[in-house]
Amino acid sequence: MRVFLTGGAGYIGSHTLLEVLSQDHEVCVYDDFSNSEPEALNRVAKLTNRSFETVEGDVLDRPKMRQALIDFRPDVVVHFAGKKAVGESTEKPLMYYRNNVEGTLSLLEGMEAAGCKRIVFSSSATVYGDPHYLPYDEAHPLAPTNPYGMTKYMVELILKDWCTAQDDNTAVLLRYFNPVGAHESGEIGEDPNDIPNNLMPFVSQVAVGRLEKLRVFGADYETPDGTGVRDYIHVVDLAKAHAAAIGFAGDHKGCEAINVGSGQGSSVLDVVRAFEGASGRNIPYDVVERRAGDIAEFYADPTKAYNLLGWKTECDLADMCGSAWKWQSQNPNGYKPN
Ligand code: NAD
Ligand code: UD1
Repeated sequence: MRVFLTGGAGYIGSHTLLEVLSQDHEVCVYDDFSNSEPEALNRVAKLTNRSFETVEGDVLDRPKMRQALIDFRPDVVVHFAGKKAVGESTEKPLMYYRNNVEGTLSLLEGMEAAGCKRIVFSSSATVYGDPHYLPYDEAHPLAPTNPYGMTKYMVELILKDWCTAQDDNTAVLLRYFNPVGAHESGEIGEDPNDIPNNLMPFVSQVAVGRLEKLRVFGADYETPDGTGVRDYIHVVDLAKAHAAAIGFAGDHKGCEAINVGSGQGSSVLDVVRAFEGASGRNIPYDVVERRAGDIAEFYADPTKAYNLLGWKTECDLADMCGSAWKWQSQNPNGYKPN
């Protein structure tokens, strides 16, 4: 198939690009490199020995977006491009609504002009909000608690209406849990610009000596060891879920929301211990106050992903930490020269 990846140079996009190229699809990446480096694309090209098109552009640039889609004529679009920092979204909500919601409208208008009727969208488990029950299944009520989550929820509603309006349109809403880890080569991985907000990149930077100590946000939750529990998913498993969703979108019509998680919860201290095991380094930490807005525990019911996509996770926490460590130790400054 002809696959168009918005945000294909980013963390999840670059791993999906690699997976999709290895399945012989024709690919075009559309990215403004606002949160990524072209070097990620060079490395994927080398690893796969495949070429693909790249257009440097902003999804908000309607004429450019439309032309890129008309030129490439994709069978399916995978829409990663978006801003993703929860804290920043509470400070700059308009920027988030513009980039994530208006950006998707611009994309859908371009897809209509190009006759493309299939989209796979990067949604998030954050659309569920506070758990009414666990594991979250796709029928769990949606109540995001921050502007970032709200943008994902709004785009889900837009895509649902888009599919209702024309019964040959297809949207697969992939609700990711906590993506971590890196490709086994250690050549591509997560490369945060600033001090990371998320646990795994923070732990990796402590292990490599870029940061001094982890702060564990609360050890008094009602969880087995008192620290927060999440459903971590290896980014390569996630990339495979996209490849499966592309295949599914080729044969089905309508809108489906699908959880992409393992169904297993791991605590902050489980992650610390697994990372110590994978890296052979000590991860010093202090327990501090809970982080505002954090949920004690959440994890996925991934049954629907297996039933519809034939997909389930293959990697465990040791694989996630081992690959994150390989990427971090081989590239202590990410894609910037060492
Ligand atoms: P990322 O920031 O690494 O990748 C996003 C890519 O989109 C970057 O290459 C960036 O340059 C590009 N981009 C952003 N705005 C753009 C615009 N206006 N025009 C063109 N390109 C633009 O993020 P990621 O972790 O790979 O996440 C990909 C998607 O998955 C995002 O939509 C994110 O919200 C969603 N998601 C991520 C996580 C996570 O934990 N990483 C969890 C759930 C959902
Ligand atoms: C974050 C986002 C969420 C997004 C998800 C997936 C916030 C508030 N939420 O959630 O929208 O979908 O990532 O990537 O940012 N922790 C520490 N010390 C740290 C960092 C984290 O103890 O320095 C703990 C947290 O309290 C939590 C766990 O580690 O219990 C995971 O945190 P994080 O990686 O930020 O992910 P989420 O909180 O799930």
